[in-house]
Amino acid sequence: MKEQLEKIRLDAMEALDAVKTSDELEALRVRFLGKKGELTAVLKMMGKLSAEERPIMGQAANNVRAAIEEKLEQTKTALKEKMLEAKLASESVDVTIPGTQLKIGKKHPMYQVLDQIKDIFIGMGFEILEDREVELAEYNFTKLNVEEGHPAREWSDTFYFTEDSSILLRTQTSPMQIHAMETKQLPIRILAPGRVYRKDEVDATHSPMFHQIEGMAIDKNITMADLKGTLNEVVQQLYGEGTVTRFRPHHFPFTEPSCEMDIQCHKCHGKGCPTCKGEGWIEVLGAGMIHPKVLEGCGIDSTVYSGWAFGMGLERLALGHFKISDLRLIFENDVRFLEQF
Ligand code: PHE
Repeated sequence: MKEQLEKIRLDAMEALDAVKTSDELEALRVRFLGKKGELTAVLKMMGKLSAEERPIMGQAANNVRAAIEEKLEQTKTALKEKMLEAKLASESVDVTIPGTQLKIGKKHPMYQVLDQIKDIFIGMGFEILEDREVELAEYNFTKLNVEEGHPAREWSDTFYFTEDSSILLRTQTSPMQIHAMETKQLPIRILAPGRVYRKDEVDATHSPMFHQIEGMAIDKNITMADLKGTLNEVVQQLYGEGTVTRFRPHHFPFTEPSCEMDIQCHKCHGKGCPTCKGEGWIEVLGAGMIHPKVLEGCGIDSTVYSGWAFGMGLERLALGHFKISDLRLIFENDVRFLEQF
């Protein structure tokens, strides 16, 4: 029996020395000290011993139990320390490793151009108006002197919401002129950029959705000279000093007189080249003096007040600005393309 006890002690010491996890530790406690454990099994045989031997063996068994318990405690503490060390090692941060770089996006090139234009107009005292894209036909057409039956109102050109053609996706930013006249105090100076929609097939120069920038100024004694002066100033700031412009007569229902403004091709300076398709000039915008009918329709006395308005296509401007040849690149949002600007 003495040998048995000694063997249990030695086995326990050896096994505990090899323990790696707390689960293993618990398994060993059960194996040696548990109710069905090896030590208990030996103690159960105590009854067979003589009265003299019993206390001696009892003492020896207690010693073995105490030794195993002590070793269990030590192992437990050692394990805890090891686990803590491992945890600290695995969670340590090497502050000298370079961080993962965050990719910061930037504004779409077209909106960069828009920001530039907004800044120029804000500098001249204009107010930026951004508003609805779903519009009443009354504002998109009628109040702009585009009467029923005008080709621009065709179902084939316009996205209507209702059978009676009364609500639509605006085809131009010009209805912003009406909203401004109806809600603002005179004098008025606004710049209204935004999306417009027309039933156009997508190609290198067309898209069913594109952007326009509307500009308008109304005051006493406003003339065509103010329009030309303002636009010339904008062009100098946008394209550089010395940029040459030209104003051609044109027709719009809501301006009289009306014109279109071209800028001289920055590549060939008017000689004609592929950039300007041999024209020497690039068309930039439509403009004119606001039609008295439009002013009166908004309750503005056209004998006292006058004003000019213009509308330009933002995509076309951005294409020219960045020397891009295909409109679709502007909308595809391919990062490889956008990153270049
Ligand atoms: N709205 C016109 C267009 O889409 C442009 C324009 C605006 C013309 C303002 C004159 C005055 O073609």
